Formats: sequence, C-alpha cells, structure tokens
Amino acid sequence: MISPELMTVVQNEFALDWDGLHGLYHWQRVREIGLRLARLTGANPTVVELFAFLHDAKRANNHRDPEHGARAAEFARSLQGSLIRLSDREFERLAFACRYHTNGLTEAHVTVQTCWDSDRLDLGRIGMTPDPRYLCTSAAREPEMIEWAMLQCQPWIESRRQKGPT
Ligand SMILES: [Fe+2]
Repeated sequence: MISPELMTVVQNEFALDWDGLHGLYHWQRVREIGLRLARLTGANPTVVELFAFLHDAKRANNHRDPEHGARAAEFARSLQGSLIRLSDREFERLAFACRYHTNGLTEAHVTVQTCWDSDRLDLGRIGMTPDPRYLCTSAAREPEMIEWAMLQCQPWIESRRQKGPT
C-alpha cells in the first residue's frame, strides 16, 4: 500500500489538476489495472503500485512533456530510503519504468512491462482503445483485459461530462 505520507508528498509536488487527465483518478486506475495484471504476470506488486502514483507526478502539462518520465524517476530516487523502501534491484526497475514509460518500448523486465501496460490500458479515458501491438505482456493483450480496463474509466469520463468544459 502507498503510505499517506508518500501521498501527501506527491500531492504537494503535483502541479496539475488533481482530478484531471493525469491526476489521482488515473493513478488509481493504473494501480487497479497493474495489480490485476501483476497477479497474472508475476510482477512485483509494490513496484507496480509505486509506479502508478509516481510516473506522472512530475508532469508540467497534460500534453507534450517528454521529460516528465525522467523527472518522475529522479523524484522517486529522492524518496528511496525514506518514503520508498525498495531493494536496489526493485528500485532500479521502478526508476526505469518511470523514466521510459512514454517511449513506446515493450521489451523489459516483466515488472517494468506490467507498469507500462497498466498505464497504456488506461487510454480509454481519452477515448482510445488500447492497441495490443503497443502492450508488452500477453495478459494485457487479452481482449477481456482490454475490455475490463475500458470499463474502469467510464465513471471518470461520466463525471467529467457532467462537469462540462473546464
Ligand atoms: Fe500515466
């Protein structure tokens, strides 16, 4: 589980809309998707959870921000040993997953692949169906998994629709 102390630090550092495209609800869905995938892939669930709440934490905008993954990795590094306590090996997987999550890579350790898939499976929130060609694990490419992931973002899409244009 992510500690309340870590969440407070992340929230204080986050520069964008807390309930926006790359905010808390996206992270919560990435966590749910990631933990579901981890049970099938054997990925480390703690790394997957930390990835969910950190990978977009340093975004400077909701559009093009190619360095936000690298900033997220450095942010994670600043917390390792205090609010994050991973082994060196697991930490390097978390940092790698954060740093390269938007580079379109698919080959990596299965924990890293599971992190990337959990993020890519939440593309339904912007009206895109995740393309199996860009998913890393066979568990994520299952049509049932893609369909389930698409359903997870519907309440958020609906709440945004009710709020109207911001
Ligand atoms: Fe993301």
